[in-house]
Amino acid sequence: MSDQHPRTVVVLAAGEGKRMKSSLPKVLHPLLGRTLVGHVLHAAAAAAAQRTVVVVGHGADQVRAHLAQIAPGSLPVLQAEQLGTGHAVRIALDAVADATGTVVVLNGDVPLLRPQTVADLVRTHEESAAAATVLAAEVADPTGLGRIVRDESGRFQQIVEERDADERQRAVREINAGIYAFDAGRLREALGKLSTDNDQGEEYLTDVFGLLLAAGDPIAVHLAGDATETLGCNDRVELAGLRRLLRDRINESWMRAGVTLLDPQTTWIDVTATVERDAVIDQNTQILGASSVAAGAVVGPDVTLADTVVGAGATVLRSHATGAEIGPGASVGPYAYLRPDARLGADAKAGTFVEVKNSEIGPGAKVPHLSYVGDATIGAQANIGAATIFVNYDGVDKHRTVVGDAAFIGCDTTLIAPVEVGAGAYVAAGSSISQNVPAGALGVSRAPQRSIEGWVARRRAGTKSDAAARRATGAEASGASEGEPVHEESQPLGSVPRSGDTANE
Ligand code: UD1
Ligand code: CA
Repeated sequence: MSDQHPRTVVVLAAGEGKRMKSSLPKVLHPLLGRTLVGHVLHAAAAAAAQRTVVVVGHGADQVRAHLAQIAPGSLPVLQAEQLGTGHAVRIALDAVADATGTVVVLNGDVPLLRPQTVADLVRTHEESAAAATVLAAEVADPTGLGRIVRDESGRFQQIVEERDADERQRAVREINAGIYAFDAGRLREALGKLSTDNDQGEEYLTDVFGLLLAAGDPIAVHLAGDATETLGCNDRVELAGLRRLLRDRINESWMRAGVTLLDPQTTWIDVTATVERDAVIDQNTQILGASSVAAGAVVGPDVTLADTVVGAGATVLRSHATGAEIGPGASVGPYAYLRPDARLGADAKAGTFVEVKNSEIGPGAKVPHLSYVGDATIGAQANIGAATIFVNYDGVDKHRTVVGDAAFIGCDTTLIAPVEVGAGAYVAAGSSISQNVPAGALGVSRAPQRSIEGWVARRRAGTKSDAAARRATGAEASGASEGEPVHEESQPLGSVPRSGDTANE
């Protein structure tokens, strides 16, 4: 809707949401990638209004701060006391005294509303030249909602709140969704005439409809095709229900776009995330925030991706990634943890129990097992052996490690930053590297091995090790050692002399 008809959007978000029992204002509760009010503002954008006013009250500072982030062009207006939805709209219009044309009013807690429905409501309203148009829905259970009351011939009469309704009116299943379009001038006049003569002693916005009708103004009712769009959120049980509905809607649209979801019930994709064709998403997987999964990638089972880019054909298995970039054809997991600015090049690998932070793993480079990679640049085709630790933190500052192309780091190595291992260099397993290793060199730093012959026969006589050693060497059992208690030495096992370097076995 891009024509230049003057329009103003008013979002009502001052209520407390008591039944949420939360220190967070209701409209700030998150739902698959946006807050409740974020969803409403997204849908409201379809009205193509020149101005958007958001009425804030409970938690006004928090809501204002959020609006500054997600909708900096919107105008927050304070309703210090919540005297009703009519009062809220009156305050909003006072803040935009020159508003003419159409005023679209939306409750701040209807996150499943689609942009298209807002566009349709506005078109219906403007084409019918009604003074006011209400979005209605047929629902199975209208409990707690305002009812659309019609006369015998089906003509609109008024909107009655449940608590003010009689028995006949309560039986009506056509409800007011809390989403409306008004003619600005007619709305202003009617708002000035609202009474508080009702069960809650509030100014009801819904009374505007009865007032306009009595003045002979035309009223329109626009029926929502999908009643779930009009569902509000009053407590956390309803919030969970909305989350499931939105999940199903999102998942269905990705499946129709060519994505395979092996278990849609346990796949949670934020509205802000994207997935390309022929990607396969396995069960228990969350794709959150600004994440994107490219064509043919396989993600899951048991994966969480937040703000993470997954390249075409990559594989991510039982892992957690946040703020990471996984290159095309790369492989992650099982059980990897990618932290912000972990960047894997094409066909790179971060395997089992590998944590990566603020590091580049070059194309085709591999970190297959049990390693921590922090603040590192790893060149193409390098191989990082099991249990390599990039020692990046000296207790005060973080430092970088650079590993050149096709370098080979042996298992159980610590690379103590700042340090550089040159292209094609090798580092011997079990080394502690704190000085640069030139390109093509072997870096080694470990104590020379010694083997003390016969130590087990002397110090562990009678043990199964002793027996095995004797079988292997063909030595006779020593009578002296038979029946001797095991481990009689005072020296604890942990402090036996190192019989050699046993890393990498
Ligand atoms: C309202 C409608 C009801 C409709 C329902 C749909 C009225 C009188 N009733 O009822 O017909 O079926 O929505 O969900 O409008 N708010 C303010 N300031 C206030 C009061 C409310 O900003 O003084 C905001 C709330 O934060 C909320 C919205 O207006 O976002 C609706 O208020 P709420 O109290 O939830 O209205 P309902 O009783 O649900
Ligand atoms: Ca409500």
